[in-house]
Amino acid sequence: MIGKSVISLDDLSIAQIRDLLHKAQYIDAHRKEVSHTCEGRVLATLFYEPSTRTRLSFETAMLRLGGKVIGFAGAQLASVTKGESIADTLKTVSNYVDVVAIRHPKEGAALVASRAASVPVINAGDGGHMHPTQTLADLATLQSRFGRVNDLTVGLCGDLMFGRTVHSLIETLCRFGNVRFILISPDELKTPQYVIDRINATPSCSYVEVRDLASVIGDLDVLYMTRVQKERFFNEDDYLRLRDTYILDEDKLSLAKPDMAVLHPLPRVNEIAVEVDDDPRAAYFEQVKNGMLMRMALESSVVGDDLPGYEPLESK
Ligand code: CP
Repeated sequence: MIGKSVISLDDLSIAQIRDLLHKAQYIDAHRKEVSHTCEGRVLATLFYEPSTRTRLSFETAMLRLGGKVIGFAGAQLASVTKGESIADTLKTVSNYVDVVAIRHPKEGAALVASRAASVPVINAGDGGHMHPTQTLADLATLQSRFGRVNDLTVGLCGDLMFGRTVHSLIETLCRFGNVRFILISPDELKTPQYVIDRINATPSCSYVEVRDLASVIGDLDVLYMTRVQKERFFNEDDYLRLRDTYILDEDKLSLAKPDMAVLHPLPRVNEIAVEVDDDPRAAYFEQVKNGMLMRMALESSVVGDDLPGYEPLESK
């Protein structure tokens, strides 16, 4: 994985993803021992779009590994406002750092960045396309809740059109196989065809598209709630009409299995009532913690720094 850019999780093999999951568990149990792993390394976070979790967890991950962080949060603070291209920015920043995490509102921007950079680039979200490190956090949460990431019925609910975390997660779960997807959305926010094509191309996976959450919630092992992505709408009226289509509250949750896991990439607006936070099925703040651990695993792997005492999964 040394020197590898991660634009989509397709850039990693299933064995590499399994090793990252294993590594994150090791990091969690050996925080002090790994705290000097990336000493002398520098991470750049280039965030052209707002973020709380992704940017702060990429940065915390490098700091907790003993490295340092530079970057900007908000394109208005960078030379893009003077007309600099992403390629020129990356050719520049590559001279300063060992690894870059980039978030950009345009689909494909992270790929463009990786082609210009001479250090590994990690996609921290490109428009409505992909969010691979959120998927790593999601997989780690499934692994800790179920002891596996597949052989599950996974409901994805809300904005399945613009929700990049949904696209990354479905594509990756298809690679693991044996997943039954229940895609719950209004007609206007259905899953893009290229993601459906991926499910169709996977014989061990299947899907149904429905509009009503209450009628399917009892079948689910996992309910992945999503926010309606206001920033990707062309028209405010459509957003206002669709934003409250799904609200998960304790009444709806009473129809679910006792061990169903509720995931959400966050931020939430009002699609999960705050009362659900105290339900043992709520797993979304575990996802946040897992996001940091998985980014620690990924950053140390792509810069090529071995965690002291860590035995890779394939050598076990
Ligand atoms: N899940 C996620 O991407 O959150 P942020 O937008 O806060 O980074």
